[in-house]
Amino acid sequence: MYNSKITGLGYYLPENVVTNDDLKEFMDTSDEWIQERTGIKERRWIDPKTSDDSTSSMGAKAAKVAIERAGLTKDDIDFIIFATLSPDMYFPGGGVRVQDMLDMPTIGALDVRNQCSGFIYALSVADQFIKTGMYKNILVIGSENHSGGLEKSTRGRGVTVIFGDGAGAAVLSRCEEEGKGILSSHLHSEGKYARELMLDGPATGRWVDAIMEENNPDDTSYYPYMNGQFVFKHAVVRFSEAIVEGLQANGLQKEDIDMLIPHQANLRIAQFIQRKFQLSDDNVYNNIMKYGNTTAASVIIALTEAWELGKIKDNDLVVLAAFGSGFTWGSVVIRW
Ligand code: ACO
Repeated sequence: MYNSKITGLGYYLPENVVTNDDLKEFMDTSDEWIQERTGIKERRWIDPKTSDDSTSSMGAKAAKVAIERAGLTKDDIDFIIFATLSPDMYFPGGGVRVQDMLDMPTIGALDVRNQCSGFIYALSVADQFIKTGMYKNILVIGSENHSGGLEKSTRGRGVTVIFGDGAGAAVLSRCEEEGKGILSSHLHSEGKYARELMLDGPATGRWVDAIMEENNPDDTSYYPYMNGQFVFKHAVVRFSEAIVEGLQANGLQKEDIDMLIPHQANLRIAQFIQRKFQLSDDNVYNNIMKYGNTTAASVIIALTEAWELGKIKDNDLVVLAAFGSGFTWGSVVIRW
């Protein structure tokens, strides 16, 4: 059995900054409401007038940086795992698009559909492939183009103000040093709550024809729906459970955490977790203020930023945790 460790990190954000005040142009909201409830000040949204960014092209740009920082070339990568809820096309997924965009050999490409937990799931899958010896270097990407599918009106404000676009990528490589790299990953789901945070159509359960035929102006099934308070209550519980599970599996205590990277769903959730685990500001990294919730990209963008800022050092204990639509949740514990 081999260990796996992160050898390269990168992210990419669209240039276009959308502040809370900018949102007032098309919905009844306020900077005060958004900051108080979520901590978000601004987010990046692809501007289709000035940019041809897409979920897969952003993923490819982030991946390029991660591969370079790993000291590798695209030809050294054995496999691609791409996490997103907002692929460019209904099918195929984003992984094959990155394989093409980066002109990579005909390696395998797998897409992960686990929303805000997408990167955690993707990293865990990559870890298993490396542990078995099947692959040596795996490119793991999380990327989202939310802005293309949000309801930009007062009716959609409860969801629309939260989400942002962006991508992050990691190279996970074989590691022969004992006790280093990914120590464990823990994944969970509870599908009975699928409808509490979802996008109903178009999909085979609610196809475009049906939506068009009904021609109902009140039909919002093609916009994301979130039962915010319900999700919030479950998030705080499941985040905590996933972190405790990760620590216990490795015989560690909360005091051992050097850096917690929580999925950037809501600053209030992250602050609740910080208090619960009695972590100092130096031991938790948040950037939702600048980027909003970028779903499958959020953990990897935050991890990359924290690392770039020198907040993660050799031998640190880094815990990644996420909760989101599905419901799905999980954690990854890393000895850096
Ligand atoms: N601006 C102004 N007012 C608003 C806005 C807005 N953008 N959005 C909603 N409101 C209004 C509502 O209409 C409501 O008004 P009313 O009382 O007159 O009916 C009032 O504000 C309160 O709305 P709530 O939805 O109850 O607000 P809440 O305090 O729950 O905050 C939020 C909403 C921020 C979404 C919160 O519930 C939350 O963060 N939930 C968890 C999100 C999360 O963790 N998601 C998981 C990851 S996402 C993924 O997996 C894709």
